[in-house]
Amino acid sequence: MSQYLDTTVDVYKQAALKPDVGLCCTTTPIWQLPGLEIPRIMQEMNYGCGSTVHPRDLVRQPRILYVGVGGGMEVLQFAYFSRQAAGVVGVDVVDEMLDACDKNLYEAEKLNPWFKRDFVTLKKGTALDLPVEDNSIDVAAQNCLFNIFTQEDLQKALKEIYRVLKPHGRLVLSDPISEDPIPDQLRNDPKLRALCLSGSLTLKDYLRMITDAGFGTVEVRAKRPYRVLAPGQYDTEKLIYLESVEICAIKDPMPADGPCIFTGKAAIYYGEEEYFDDKAGHILLQNQPLSVCDKTANAIASLNRPDIFISESTYFYDGGGCC
Ligand SMILES: C[S@@+](CC[C@H](N)C(=O)[O-])C[C@H]1O[C@@H](n2cnc3c(N)ncnc32)[C@H](O)[C@@H]1O
Repeated sequence: MSQYLDTTVDVYKQAALKPDVGLCCTTTPIWQLPGLEIPRIMQEMNYGCGSTVHPRDLVRQPRILYVGVGGGMEVLQFAYFSRQAAGVVGVDVVDEMLDACDKNLYEAEKLNPWFKRDFVTLKKGTALDLPVEDNSIDVAAQNCLFNIFTQEDLQKALKEIYRVLKPHGRLVLSDPISEDPIPDQLRNDPKLRALCLSGSLTLKDYLRMITDAGFGTVEVRAKRPYRVLAPGQYDTEKLIYLESVEICAIKDPMPADGPCIFTGKAAIYYGEEEYFDDKAGHILLQNQPLSVCDKTANAIASLNRPDIFISESTYFYDGGGCC
């Protein structure tokens, strides 16, 4: 981060002082929840590229950490589920962004009778050295921040989140990725990185960084079109296609045979018996799709059975199935 910090701080200082509606592109609709009124200013300052708020993660009044608060829209959405004093801790490195978020949360308090400003604690700090205790967080989230980091800093940021999560705690991430090579002149441009345009990794590398940090279970929940960087508009000879992903990384122990990564594959047994048992903990009922992690998908596929179909990755995994 060190080499890009000044530019990043400057970009988000400006985006805090004057909302910039086109700064990030999310194709995810804004969550509409009963009794939740999101102030217009928060919607104008929606600088994310997906959503990190999934009701399924937010049971039993979790303690939440949100890194890189922006205008506070997702912070408010998390508070909707947590509903307790200091239930959400928001951390940001930019003073002006913390001030804007604070102001927007007071605005939200006026519009939402259920919401109290003290549900959210805002702290100055960096993702690379979180001002948060070890093993104290149930759900951590970051939206469109980690892609700005160099790989070295991303490694540090993931290690920090892993440190502060309780065992089995969850990190929900949303970031751009790109399967197209991003030329060095774009990748090393601090402004483009800060704007979430040129720091993207491939999905495979992004997942590897997450599992290298120790997360034993990873869910790829969504993959969507994000942007293109076109020749003539950017310093590139070929069109670069960016997608955005939503991923949940769970601090489960690392299995001896490697992480369980769910990319939305399913196994379907269509043989003559009532079910198929792979003797490794997976029962496939006849003609019932079972969600499987990529590791299980590969293991079942290697049996070369003529009566089992394994689907491709849908990148839309929503829970359940093996592991
Ligand atoms: C692209 S914006 C995303 C904001 C918010 N997550 C959203 O979805 O609207 C990135 C945010 O991260 C903050 N930020 C930048 N570098 C940071 C760092 N090293 N540690 C913590 N926050 C940082 C910026 O001030 C900004 O609020």
